[in-house]
Amino acid sequence: MERAPAGLKGRSFLSLLDFTPLELRRLLNLSARLKARRRAGGAGGLLAGKNILLLFEKTSSRTRCSFELGAAEEGARVTYVGPGTSQFGKKESLEDSARLFGRFYDAIGFRGFGNHETVRDLARFSGLPVWNGLTDDDHPTQVLADLLTIEEHARKPLAETKIVFCGDTRNNMAYAWIYGCARMGMRFVAYGPRELAPDPAVLARAEAAAPGAKLSFSDDPACLEGADVIYTDIWASMGEEDRVAERVKLLAPFKVTEESLARTGNPDVLFMHCLPAFHDFETGFAAEWRARGLDIREVEDSVFRGPRSVVFDEAENRLHTIKAVMVATLAERADSVFSEHSG
Ligand code: CP
Ligand code: NVA
Repeated sequence: MERAPAGLKGRSFLSLLDFTPLELRRLLNLSARLKARRRAGGAGGLLAGKNILLLFEKTSSRTRCSFELGAAEEGARVTYVGPGTSQFGKKESLEDSARLFGRFYDAIGFRGFGNHETVRDLARFSGLPVWNGLTDDDHPTQVLADLLTIEEHARKPLAETKIVFCGDTRNNMAYAWIYGCARMGMRFVAYGPRELAPDPAVLARAEAAAPGAKLSFSDDPACLEGADVIYTDIWASMGEEDRVAERVKLLAPFKVTEESLARTGNPDVLFMHCLPAFHDFETGFAAEWRARGLDIREVEDSVFRGPRSVVFDEAENRLHTIKAVMVATLAERADSVFSEHSG
């Protein structure tokens, strides 16, 4: 029988680099069990009586819904504080706000501007476990969901998997993948323009935490060869909307196309994307830019909708993995989910 994620209770989930491969393995196993239990109509209640704050400075669909629904299914109460609706960061400092939240809640899910120090300080001043739902330089709950998705589809162990991240390799998703691959022993290639190569400090941090990590950068499409996963993300992240035009110029050669998939030489290659994605002109944003003469799509529609795409499996797995993070770090009796649902 598998064991519960021992030692995770009371901990924050700020970055995948903070966890050992065994701890991440246990979180993935717990996610798979919670997913199976939900599909079988099994009962929740693992977070009964807990009070959770969702403090979101940036917009969200998947992450917010996963936290809210996951918490509700396990019996917790949630307060959602959305962008621009609290004193946080404007009339009240991070420290004072965190001290307040520490008096009311049992844990905080945070999405916002800022970086690792922001979420670390939120945890420090509140005294609570903090779950990082995206910052400017990380998005660990997304990569946890992606790892589960790869395991569900791939025909080889994670440690033998090669992922090529195409496009803006200096953003939060690329960095979350660098940390995730370093931890799980996966080969990671950042494929994009030199101007947007990963910050060397990020690579150094990952390599210091996981010596021997297989991380590299390339602007040569030959790096796609042998890939098991082609991953991409939007070209201008939240807060970077004023950079769209310059990004399109730099990143257009790195758009994911049918040709990119063919170049891998792997008929089983997976196409992955954290979403939301620009793959057609059905959003006001993409349509407005097209009217101004720019194609902002980071992936071809046929790839996005095609047989190698697992993007909505990833999206569903956000719920199961975020629930696992909440249960492992907050539940009084996380062990019971293993004994009751083993096998
Ligand atoms: N992938 C992701 O984090 O989606 P949302 O921005 O909708 O939460
Ligand atoms: N890089 C994107 C990820 C969205 C989930 C952003 O920060 O907007």
